[in-house]
Amino acid sequence: MKKQILVVGGAGYIGSHAAMALDAAGYDVLVFDNLSTGHADFLRFGRFENGDLADRAALDRVLESGDIRAIMHFAAFINVGESVSNPGKYYRNNLASTLNLLEAARDHGVGNIIFSSTCATYGTPQSLPLREDHPQHPINPYGRAKLAVEWMLRDFSSAYGLRCCIMRYFNAAGAAPASLGARIGERHDPETHLIPLVLRAAMHPGGKVGIFGTDYPTEDGTCIRDYIHVCDLAEAHVLAMERMLAGEPGTALNLGNGLGYSVREVVECVQEVTGLPVRVEYNPRRPGDAGILVGDASRAASELGWRPKFADLKTIVGSAYDWEKQLEHFKVENTYGRAGAEKCGENSEGKKHGFPRAASGPRNDRKLS
Ligand code: UFG
Repeated sequence: MKKQILVVGGAGYIGSHAAMALDAAGYDVLVFDNLSTGHADFLRFGRFENGDLADRAALDRVLESGDIRAIMHFAAFINVGESVSNPGKYYRNNLASTLNLLEAARDHGVGNIIFSSTCATYGTPQSLPLREDHPQHPINPYGRAKLAVEWMLRDFSSAYGLRCCIMRYFNAAGAAPASLGARIGERHDPETHLIPLVLRAAMHPGGKVGIFGTDYPTEDGTCIRDYIHVCDLAEAHVLAMERMLAGEPGTALNLGNGLGYSVREVVECVQEVTGLPVRVEYNPRRPGDAGILVGDASRAASELGWRPKFADLKTIVGSAYDWEKQLEHFKVENTYGRAGAEKCGENSEGKKHGFPRAASGPRNDRKLS
Protein backbone atom coordinates (compact mmCIF):
# COMPACT_ATOMS: atom_id res chain seq x y z
CA MET A 1 0.00 0.00 0.00
CA LYS A 2 1.22 3.51 -0.86
CA LYS A 3 2.35 5.67 2.03
CA GLN A 4 0.13 8.67 2.56
CA ILE A 5 1.77 12.10 2.68
CA LEU A 6 -0.04 15.34 3.54
CA VAL A 7 1.14 18.28 1.44
CA VAL A 8 0.01 21.49 3.13
CA GLY A 9 0.06 24.28 0.55
CA GLY A 10 0.24 21.75 -2.29
CA ALA A 11 -1.66 24.04 -4.69
CA GLY A 12 1.15 26.59 -4.60
CA TYR A 13 4.32 26.95 -6.61
CA ILE A 14 6.78 24.79 -4.64
CA GLY A 15 4.09 22.62 -3.02
CA SER A 16 2.65 21.53 -6.38
CA HIS A 17 6.11 20.53 -7.62
CA ALA A 18 6.63 18.53 -4.41
CA ALA A 19 3.23 16.86 -4.90
CA MET A 20 4.32 15.94 -8.43
CA ALA A 21 7.63 14.50 -7.16
CA LEU A 22 5.87 12.50 -4.43
CA ASP A 23 3.30 11.15 -6.88
CA ALA A 24 6.05 10.12 -9.30
CA ALA A 25 7.95 8.43 -6.44
CA GLY A 26 4.88 6.29 -5.64
CA TYR A 27 3.35 8.06 -2.63
CA ASP A 28 -0.32 8.68 -1.95
CA VAL A 29 -0.54 12.48 -1.99
CA LEU A 30 -3.18 14.40 -0.04
CA VAL A 31 -3.10 18.16 -0.60
CA PHE A 32 -4.49 20.52 2.06
CA ASP A 33 -4.77 24.10 0.83
CA ASN A 34 -7.18 27.02 1.22
CA LEU A 35 -6.49 28.21 -2.35
CA SER A 36 -5.88 31.75 -1.06
CA THR A 37 -2.69 31.97 -3.12
CA GLY A 38 -2.63 28.46 -4.60
CA HIS A 39 -4.34 27.43 -7.83
CA ALA A 40 -7.07 24.85 -8.35
CA ASP A 41 -5.55 23.95 -11.72
CA PHE A 42 -2.27 22.97 -9.99
CA LEU A 43 -4.12 20.15 -8.16
CA ARG A 44 -2.98 17.46 -10.53
CA PHE A 45 -1.34 15.01 -8.16
CA GLY A 46 -3.30 13.03 -5.58
CA ARG A 47 -6.39 14.09 -3.67
CA PHE A 48 -7.39 17.53 -2.42
CA GLU A 49 -8.93 18.81 0.79
CA ASN A 50 -9.90 22.48 0.82
CA GLY A 51 -9.12 23.91 4.24
CA ASP A 52 -7.31 26.55 6.22
CA LEU A 53 -4.48 25.92 8.67
CA ALA A 54 -6.15 28.31 11.11
CA ASP A 55 -9.16 25.97 11.25
CA ARG A 56 -8.25 23.28 13.77
CA ALA A 57 -11.42 21.27 13.10
CA ALA A 58 -10.56 21.08 9.38
CA LEU A 59 -7.06 19.92 10.26
CA ASP A 60 -8.44 17.29 12.63
CA ARG A 61 -10.72 15.98 9.89
CA VAL A 62 -7.91 15.63 7.39
CA LEU A 63 -5.50 14.04 9.88
CA GLU A 64 -8.16 11.55 10.98
CA SER A 65 -9.03 10.64 7.39
CA GLY A 66 -6.16 8.23 6.81
CA ASP A 67 -2.79 6.95 7.91
CA ILE A 68 -0.64 10.01 7.24
CA ARG A 69 3.05 9.16 7.58
CA ALA A 70 4.55 12.61 7.07
CA ILE A 71 3.55 16.23 6.50
CA MET A 72 5.24 18.60 4.10
CA HIS A 73 4.38 22.18 5.04
CA PHE A 74 4.63 24.77 2.25
CA ALA A 75 1.70 27.03 3.09
CA ALA A 76 3.04 30.52 3.76
CA PHE A 77 3.05 34.07 2.51
CA ILE A 78 6.39 34.73 0.87
CA ASN A 79 6.95 38.38 0.06
CA VAL A 80 9.79 39.89 2.02
CA GLY A 81 8.74 43.47 1.15
CA GLU A 82 5.11 42.91 2.13
CA SER A 83 6.19 41.36 5.45
CA VAL A 84 7.85 44.67 6.32
CA SER A 85 4.71 46.72 5.63
CA ASN A 86 2.20 44.16 6.95
CA PRO A 87 3.97 42.01 9.58
CA GLY A 88 0.76 40.83 11.29
CA LYS A 89 -0.24 38.95 8.15
CA TYR A 90 3.04 37.02 8.29
CA TYR A 91 3.03 36.28 12.03
CA ARG A 92 -0.61 35.17 11.91
CA ASN A 93 -0.38 32.88 8.91
CA ASN A 94 3.22 31.75 8.82
CA LEU A 95 3.72 31.38 12.59
CA ALA A 96 0.39 31.07 14.44
CA SER A 97 -1.22 28.77 11.85
CA THR A 98 1.87 26.58 11.85
CA LEU A 99 1.50 26.16 15.62
CA ASN A 100 -2.02 24.90 14.90
CA LEU A 101 -0.59 22.37 12.45
CA LEU A 102 2.09 21.16 14.88
CA GLU A 103 -0.42 20.70 17.69
CA ALA A 104 -2.75 18.82 15.37
CA ALA A 105 0.14 16.62 14.15
CA ARG A 106 1.12 15.89 17.76
CA ASP A 107 -2.46 15.04 18.77
CA HIS A 108 -2.94 12.71 15.80
CA GLY A 109 0.43 10.98 16.16
CA VAL A 110 1.97 12.20 12.90
CA GLY A 111 5.66 12.18 13.78
CA ASN A 112 7.43 13.52 10.67
CA ILE A 113 7.35 17.09 9.33
CA ILE A 114 9.27 18.70 6.51
CA PHE A 115 9.14 22.46 6.85
CA SER A 116 9.78 25.12 4.18
CA SER A 117 12.13 27.57 5.82
CA THR A 118 14.34 30.11 4.15
CA CYS A 119 17.80 31.56 3.89
CA ALA A 120 16.11 34.80 4.97
CA THR A 121 16.47 33.43 8.54
CA TYR A 122 20.22 34.14 8.36
CA GLY A 123 19.91 37.89 7.84
CA THR A 124 22.99 39.78 6.67
CA PRO A 125 25.73 37.21 5.99
CA GLN A 126 28.83 37.32 8.17
CA SER A 127 30.50 34.78 5.88
CA LEU A 128 29.72 33.35 2.46
CA PRO A 129 28.56 30.93 1.29
CA LEU A 130 26.08 30.58 4.15
CA ARG A 131 26.30 27.34 6.09
CA GLU A 132 23.57 25.93 8.31
CA ASP A 133 25.54 26.89 11.44
CA HIS A 134 25.74 30.55 10.41
CA PRO A 135 24.10 32.78 13.08
CA GLN A 136 20.43 33.43 12.39
CA HIS A 137 19.57 37.12 12.72
CA PRO A 138 16.78 37.76 10.20
CA ILE A 139 16.32 41.34 9.01
CA ASN A 140 12.64 41.21 8.05
CA PRO A 141 9.39 39.87 9.58
CA TYR A 142 9.18 37.13 6.94
CA GLY A 143 12.51 35.71 8.08
CA ARG A 144 11.72 36.24 11.77
CA ALA A 145 8.40 34.34 11.53
CA LYS A 146 10.14 31.45 9.73
CA LEU A 147 12.90 31.37 12.35
CA ALA A 148 10.28 31.31 15.13
CA VAL A 149 8.78 28.22 13.48
CA GLU A 150 12.21 26.60 13.40
CA TRP A 151 12.43 27.11 17.18
CA MET A 152 8.90 25.79 17.66
CA LEU A 153 9.80 22.67 15.69
CA ARG A 154 12.85 22.06 17.85
CA ASP A 155 10.80 22.50 21.03
CA PHE A 156 8.11 20.10 19.75
CA SER A 157 10.87 17.71 18.84
CA SER A 158 12.30 17.78 22.40
CA ALA A 159 8.91 17.64 24.11
CA TYR A 160 7.05 15.13 21.92
CA GLY A 161 9.66 13.40 19.78
CA LEU A 162 8.39 15.04 16.58
CA ARG A 163 10.97 14.54 13.84
CA CYS A 164 11.45 17.52 11.59
CA CYS A 165 13.49 18.44 8.53
CA ILE A 166 13.98 22.19 8.20
CA MET A 167 14.59 23.10 4.56
CA ARG A 168 16.17 26.52 4.10
CA TYR A 169 15.52 27.51 0.51
CA PHE A 170 17.53 30.02 -1.40
CA ASN A 171 15.68 31.55 -4.37
CA ALA A 172 13.25 29.04 -5.86
CA ALA A 173 12.86 29.52 -9.61
CA GLY A 174 12.03 27.71 -12.85
CA ALA A 175 9.23 25.25 -13.56
CA ALA A 176 8.66 21.58 -14.33
CA PRO A 177 9.82 21.04 -17.94
CA ALA A 178 7.02 21.83 -20.38
CA SER A 179 7.66 18.47 -22.08
CA LEU A 180 6.05 16.75 -19.07
CA GLY A 181 2.80 18.59 -19.69
CA ALA A 182 2.50 19.16 -15.95
CA ARG A 183 1.31 22.77 -16.35
CA ILE A 184 2.63 23.92 -13.01
CA GLY A 185 5.04 26.80 -12.48
CA GLU A 186 5.49 30.15 -10.79
CA ARG A 187 2.22 32.10 -10.76
CA HIS A 188 1.88 34.60 -7.95
CA ASP A 189 -0.65 37.40 -7.85
CA PRO A 190 0.79 39.93 -7.79
CA GLU A 191 4.09 38.56 -9.05
CA THR A 192 7.01 40.09 -7.18
CA HIS A 193 9.84 37.68 -8.00
CA LEU A 194 12.69 38.68 -10.20
CA ILE A 195 12.88 36.01 -12.90
CA PRO A 196 9.19 36.05 -13.95
CA LEU A 197 9.17 39.85 -13.87
CA VAL A 198 12.25 40.12 -16.08
CA LEU A 199 10.77 37.54 -18.48
CA ARG A 200 7.51 39.48 -18.68
CA ALA A 201 9.42 42.70 -19.34
CA ALA A 202 11.15 40.92 -22.23
CA MET A 203 8.02 39.31 -23.64
CA HIS A 204 5.67 42.30 -23.56
CA PRO A 205 6.16 45.23 -25.90
CA GLY A 206 6.77 48.33 -23.80
CA GLY A 207 7.45 46.21 -20.71
CA LYS A 208 10.17 47.02 -18.22
CA VAL A 209 11.45 45.82 -14.87
CA GLY A 210 12.65 47.86 -11.91
CA ILE A 211 15.98 47.02 -10.30
CA PHE A 212 15.82 47.51 -6.53
CA GLY A 213 19.08 49.11 -5.50
CA THR A 214 22.33 49.66 -7.38
CA ASP A 215 24.47 50.58 -4.37
CA TYR A 216 24.92 47.20 -2.70
CA PRO A 217 28.49 46.13 -1.92
CA THR A 218 28.62 43.81 -4.93
CA GLU A 219 30.60 44.03 -8.18
CA ASP A 220 27.78 45.70 -10.15
CA GLY A 221 25.94 47.20 -7.17
CA THR A 222 22.85 44.98 -7.46
CA CYS A 223 21.75 42.19 -5.08
CA ILE A 224 23.15 38.70 -5.49
CA ARG A 225 20.99 35.61 -5.02
CA ASP A 226 21.39 31.84 -5.32
CA TYR A 227 18.66 30.60 -7.71
CA ILE A 228 17.61 26.98 -7.27
CA HIS A 229 15.32 25.05 -9.62
CA VAL A 230 11.96 24.18 -8.08
CA CYS A 231 12.24 20.54 -9.28
CA ASP A 232 15.56 20.23 -7.44
CA LEU A 233 13.87 21.59 -4.31
CA ALA A 234 11.04 19.08 -4.72
CA GLU A 235 13.45 16.19 -5.07
CA ALA A 236 15.28 17.25 -1.89
CA HIS A 237 11.95 17.08 -0.02
CA VAL A 238 11.29 13.53 -1.14
CA LEU A 239 14.82 12.47 -0.15
CA ALA A 240 14.55 14.17 3.26
CA MET A 241 11.18 12.57 3.92
CA GLU A 242 12.44 9.10 2.97
CA ARG A 243 15.38 9.57 5.30
CA MET A 244 13.03 10.36 8.20
CA LEU A 245 10.66 7.50 7.32
CA ALA A 246 13.71 5.22 7.47
CA GLY A 247 14.18 6.32 11.10
CA GLU A 248 16.97 8.86 10.68
CA PRO A 249 16.81 11.93 12.97
CA GLY A 250 15.62 15.35 11.83
CA THR A 251 17.96 17.92 10.38
CA ALA A 252 18.25 21.44 8.96
CA LEU A 253 19.46 21.83 5.39
CA ASN A 254 20.32 24.63 3.00
CA LEU A 255 18.93 24.10 -0.49
CA GLY A 256 20.76 26.19 -3.06
CA ASN A 257 23.31 25.82 -5.84
CA GLY A 258 26.13 27.77 -4.17
CA LEU A 259 26.15 30.04 -7.23
CA GLY A 260 25.50 33.76 -6.86
CA TYR A 261 23.98 35.92 -9.60
CA SER A 262 23.36 39.62 -9.44
CA VAL A 263 20.10 41.19 -10.59
CA ARG A 264 21.90 42.57 -13.63
CA GLU A 265 23.28 39.11 -14.47
CA VAL A 266 19.75 37.68 -14.31
CA VAL A 267 18.60 40.40 -16.74
CA GLU A 268 21.48 39.52 -19.09
CA CYS A 269 20.67 35.82 -18.85
CA VAL A 270 17.01 36.46 -19.72
CA GLN A 271 18.11 38.49 -22.76
CA GLU A 272 20.37 35.65 -23.86
CA VAL A 273 17.81 32.89 -23.33
CA THR A 274 14.88 34.73 -24.95
CA GLY A 275 16.82 36.68 -27.57
CA LEU A 276 14.70 39.67 -26.53
CA PRO A 277 15.85 43.01 -25.12
CA VAL A 278 14.86 43.93 -21.54
CA ARG A 279 14.21 47.53 -20.51
CA VAL A 280 15.19 48.27 -16.93
CA GLU A 281 14.69 51.19 -14.61
CA TYR A 282 16.73 51.82 -11.51
CA ASN A 283 14.83 52.11 -8.24
CA PRO A 284 15.87 52.56 -4.62
CA ARG A 285 16.57 49.52 -2.44
CA ARG A 286 13.55 47.43 -1.44
CA PRO A 287 13.11 47.39 2.36
CA GLY A 288 14.14 44.10 3.97
CA ASP A 289 16.48 42.95 1.17
CA ALA A 290 19.89 41.50 2.08
CA GLY A 291 22.69 42.35 -0.37
CA ILE A 292 24.03 38.83 -0.93
CA LEU A 293 22.46 35.45 -0.15
CA VAL A 294 24.37 32.43 -1.43
CA GLY A 295 24.27 29.04 0.24
CA ASP A 296 26.52 26.11 0.97
CA ALA A 297 24.37 23.02 0.44
CA SER A 298 27.07 20.45 1.13
CA ARG A 299 25.13 19.10 4.12
CA ALA A 300 22.16 18.26 1.87
CA ALA A 301 24.61 16.55 -0.49
CA SER A 302 26.18 14.45 2.27
CA GLU A 303 23.04 13.68 4.30
CA LEU A 304 20.58 13.17 1.45
CA GLY A 305 22.83 12.45 -1.51
CA TRP A 306 21.09 15.46 -3.13
CA ARG A 307 22.66 16.86 -6.29
CA PRO A 308 20.79 19.63 -8.14
CA LYS A 309 20.09 18.52 -11.70
CA PHE A 310 19.14 21.94 -13.09
CA ALA A 311 21.84 24.11 -11.52
CA ASP A 312 22.77 26.21 -14.54
CA LEU A 313 21.03 29.62 -14.53
CA LYS A 314 20.26 29.37 -18.26
CA THR A 315 18.45 26.08 -17.65
CA ILE A 316 16.47 27.62 -14.79
CA VAL A 317 15.57 30.72 -16.80
CA GLY A 318 14.80 28.57 -19.87
CA SER A 319 12.25 26.50 -17.94
CA ALA A 320 10.72 29.67 -16.46
CA TYR A 321 10.49 31.12 -20.00
CA ASP A 322 8.71 28.00 -21.29
CA TRP A 323 6.28 28.30 -18.40
CA GLU A 324 5.62 32.01 -19.06
CA LYS A 325 4.89 31.17 -22.71
CA GLN A 326 2.44 28.47 -21.57
CA LEU A 327 0.77 31.02 -19.29
CA GLU A 328 0.36 33.41 -22.20
CA HIS A 329 -1.09 30.59 -24.28
CA PHE A 330 -3.52 29.58 -21.53
CA LYS A 331 -4.64 33.18 -21.15
CA VAL A 332 -5.31 33.48 -24.85
CA GLU A 333 -7.10 30.15 -24.99
CA ASN A 334 -8.79 30.74 -21.63
CA THR A 335 -8.26 27.08 -20.77
CA TYR A 336 -7.66 27.19 -17.03
CA GLY A 337 -11.01 25.51 -16.44
CA ARG A 338 -10.29 22.82 -19.00
CA ALA A 339 -6.88 22.11 -17.49
CA GLY A 340 -8.47 21.72 -14.06
CA ALA A 341 -10.97 19.23 -15.44
CA GLU A 342 -8.28 16.81 -16.63
CA LYS A 343 -7.85 13.62 -14.66
CA CYS A 344 -5.53 14.11 -11.70
CA GLY A 345 -1.94 13.07 -12.46
CA GLU A 346 -2.42 12.99 -16.22
CA ASN A 347 -1.76 15.54 -18.91
CA SER A 348 -4.08 16.50 -21.75
CA GLU A 349 -2.93 13.47 -23.79
CA GLY A 350 -3.86 11.21 -20.89
CA LYS A 351 -0.19 10.41 -20.19
CA LYS A 352 0.96 9.97 -16.61
CA HIS A 353 3.28 12.73 -15.45
CA GLY A 354 6.81 11.64 -14.67
CA PHE A 355 9.28 13.46 -12.49
CA PRO A 356 12.18 14.93 -14.45
CA ARG A 357 15.46 13.09 -14.07
CA ALA A 358 17.44 14.99 -16.72
CA ALA A 359 21.15 15.54 -16.30
CA SER A 360 22.23 19.05 -15.32
CA GLY A 361 23.86 21.46 -17.72
CA PRO A 362 27.53 22.38 -17.35
CA ARG A 363 28.36 24.08 -14.06
CA ASN A 364 30.41 26.80 -15.64
CA ASP A 365 28.99 29.62 -13.55
CA ARG A 366 30.89 31.93 -11.29
CA LYS A 367 31.12 30.49 -7.80
CA LEU A 368 31.15 32.89 -4.89
CA SER A 369 33.80 32.20 -2.30
N1 UFG B 1 14.33 42.39 -7.49
C1 UFG B 1 14.43 43.50 -8.30
N2 UFG B 1 13.31 43.88 -8.98
C2 UFG B 1 12.13 43.21 -8.88
C3 UFG B 1 12.06 42.08 -8.05
C4 UFG B 1 13.18 41.70 -7.37
O1 UFG B 1 15.46 44.13 -8.40
O2 UFG B 1 11.16 43.64 -9.53
C5 UFG B 1 15.53 41.96 -6.77
C6 UFG B 1 15.31 41.94 -5.26
O3 UFG B 1 15.62 43.19 -4.71
C7 UFG B 1 16.29 40.84 -4.86
C8 UFG B 1 16.30 39.88 -6.06
O4 UFG B 1 15.79 40.63 -7.14
O5 UFG B 1 17.55 41.34 -4.71
C9 UFG B 1 15.43 38.68 -5.85
O6 UFG B 1 14.16 39.13 -5.42
P1 UFG B 1 12.90 38.17 -5.33
O7 UFG B 1 11.74 39.01 -4.95
O8 UFG B 1 12.79 37.37 -6.57
O9 UFG B 1 13.29 37.16 -4.18
P2 UFG B 1 13.73 37.47 -2.69
O10 UFG B 1 15.21 37.21 -2.60
O11 UFG B 1 13.26 38.77 -2.18
O12 UFG B 1 12.90 36.41 -1.87
C10 UFG B 1 12.80 35.08 -2.29
C11 UFG B 1 11.54 34.46 -1.72
C12 UFG B 1 11.63 34.39 -0.24
C13 UFG B 1 12.93 33.73 0.16
C14 UFG B 1 14.09 34.46 -0.46
C15 UFG B 1 15.42 33.88 -0.15
O13 UFG B 1 10.38 35.21 -2.08
O14 UFG B 1 10.56 33.60 0.20
O15 UFG B 1 13.94 34.42 -1.87
O16 UFG B 1 16.42 34.69 -0.74
F1 UFG B 1 13.09 33.79 1.48
